Amino acid sequence: MIYRVVFACRLRAVLFAAMLISAAGMAAERADNFVLLDHAGSAHELYYGDSAAAVLLVAHSSSCPLDTEVLQTLKNVQPELKILLINSTDSRAEIARAAAQDGIDLPILHDHAQIIAPSLGFDQVGDAVLVDTSGWQISYQGDVGSALLNELVAQPGAITSVQGPAPVGCRLNLPVNEQVADYASEIVPILQNNCMACHVEGGIGPWAMSEYAMIQGFAPMIREVVRVKRMPPWHADPAVGHWQHSAAMSDNDTQTLINWIEAGAPRGTADDPLLAERQQTPQWPLGEPDLMLEIPTFDIPATGVVDYQFPVVANPLDRDVWVEAATIVPGDTRVVHHVLMGSAEQAPAESDRESVFQNYIMGYAPGNESAHMPAGTGVFVPVGGVYQFQMHYTPVGVATTDTTRVALYFADEPPANFLRQQVVLNPRLKIPANTADHVETAYFEFWEDATIYSLVPHSHYRGTASTFVLEYPDGSSETILSVPNYDFNWQRTYSFVEPKAVPQGTRIVHSTVYDNSSANPANPDPEREVPWGLQSHDEMLYGSVSFSWDKERSDAPIHSNLTAGSAQFIGFMDKDKDGKLAKTELPDGLRKRLGWFKWWFVDTNFDGGLDLAEIEEMFSGN
Ligand code: HEC
Repeated sequence: MIYRVVFACRLRAVLFAAMLISAAGMAAERADNFVLLDHAGSAHELYYGDSAAAVLLVAHSSSCPLDTEVLQTLKNVQPELKILLINSTDSRAEIARAAAQDGIDLPILHDHAQIIAPSLGFDQVGDAVLVDTSGWQISYQGDVGSALLNELVAQPGAITSVQGPAPVGCRLNLPVNEQVADYASEIVPILQNNCMACHVEGGIGPWAMSEYAMIQGFAPMIREVVRVKRMPPWHADPAVGHWQHSAAMSDNDTQTLINWIEAGAPRGTADDPLLAERQQTPQWPLGEPDLMLEIPTFDIPATGVVDYQFPVVANPLDRDVWVEAATIVPGDTRVVHHVLMGSAEQAPAESDRESVFQNYIMGYAPGNESAHMPAGTGVFVPVGGVYQFQMHYTPVGVATTDTTRVALYFADEPPANFLRQQVVLNPRLKIPANTADHVETAYFEFWEDATIYSLVPHSHYRGTASTFVLEYPDGSSETILSVPNYDFNWQRTYSFVEPKAVPQGTRIVHSTVYDNSSANPANPDPEREVPWGLQSHDEMLYGSVSFSWDKERSDAPIHSNLTAGSAQFIGFMDKDKDGKLAKTELPDGLRKRLGWFKWWFVDTNFDGGLDLAEIEEMFSGN
């Protein structure tokens, strides 16, 4: 390890020398932050703190390979130097192919909207920028193969020097932006289509796009939030799946907007369409409700942690209904972090209110105000009983009160089928202290043919990336949702354009990566081993799946909450994923209670493991 230490010093010296050079010549420039996905679909943020003293960004193209010897040499300098290749000209598939072909095992970031490479001054393959992580200043700008490399590898003994620069002369085929977009006719439509569902007076966005002066004033921040993929708030990897109501902004729009801002956000001469617009968000976006519910008013203190609230509202109707759509409108959007809504035949006991809803209807979070049940399905709410809610309030510095309201829309006729919801979770998770890449996984096995409509990944401050993967009975598998840069501020429902048919025996596997290190700026306490908990300083592995059973009919239900609960239990206890629970896989309490004697009564087929039927039988108390 001595070599590493020496080398870190060496790198600091190079950075320092480079800074001196730039200080003498020109003012050192800051590299602005960005988030890009690499060829494998993982997200990389330039400013994400880690141990590297510097980040080297290098322009890549699949058609003009970089000298692999140069790359290999550079790789040896890791982790003091972090290397990110940036490709602005090829598709993700082409980049992945080139990576495999050229044997590159560095992340190749996909600059899909072609806004990052130009901002780094790249115009040829092999162009490089060295960024000092202590202040994000650019300490070297030039060719990866020349002076920089020789400096970096001139470490006696450890690494041999590499002759010659990377191939040069391959120009990056980047668009030439001679013409800046017109504010009124080009920029305003982009804002209307991508931003103004929220950024209007009375909308959930913190500021309204009400006139040119607002856009101009926020222009630098717009550039920043778009570059780091914070806005528009849509975090699914675009290479995986097709989604209804996708809020992703097209590459063209992104490029046009950013180029306009970088050109000084010129006003142009035409009238400002935003002044004419003055949109008001309608009170009920889906129209007059069939039933309006008011959740009891709650006082939120200025500071502190508010326990989850589980209010119930008596079902006021004297008939059975099928919910086909719903909207939740918070009384005070600043403090309502999220709301989950379901129904139950009777108000659950105080002690039981934290459990997952038996008859789930929808969840609200900013950007997820309304839910439409998939065509041909609905959520059945029988006469009597209660509507139940889970309310998460987060104080904002001033005391306030909240009265959240709900609009429900009912189908005229019973739909063909029930919409079901299943949560893939692990309430026994444990995330070790000071660990950057901890993964938690659980699965749910469909015991009949089913059709999946939508997915919601959910974790807290330490969750950084989530996936849902289908493992089919024939052994094949398919990633159906990847959220590589999970943002706790946004609880999105991802609804398939084409619902996914899954045969009996298919498993849906949900995984989340947690960063419980100090590099995660959202981490409240890296020293803590983090358990499951509702509050944001604890964690969850909680993947919600909306589906229907293909055989089920609205007049002939087949679903069983007991079977679903048993399958869910197997899905987080079955560490070896063989589909049944060995004695050693059971929780301590249960294993002790069963002992060797009772075990023989529950393992009815004597195969040494408890399968779905046996677990169900055990839980049913028979
Ligand atoms: C689904 C609703 C929604 C959409 C669509 C949306 N925003 Fe936002 N925006 C928000 C909310 C809520 C926040 C504050 C929370 C956050 O930053 O995540 C925000 C924050 C911002 C901020 C930062 C403000 C601050 O003070 O930190 C900017 C700038 C911004 N949005 C610009 C945009 C732009 C540009 C678009 C379109 C390309 C857009 N937003 C689309 C809801 C939205």
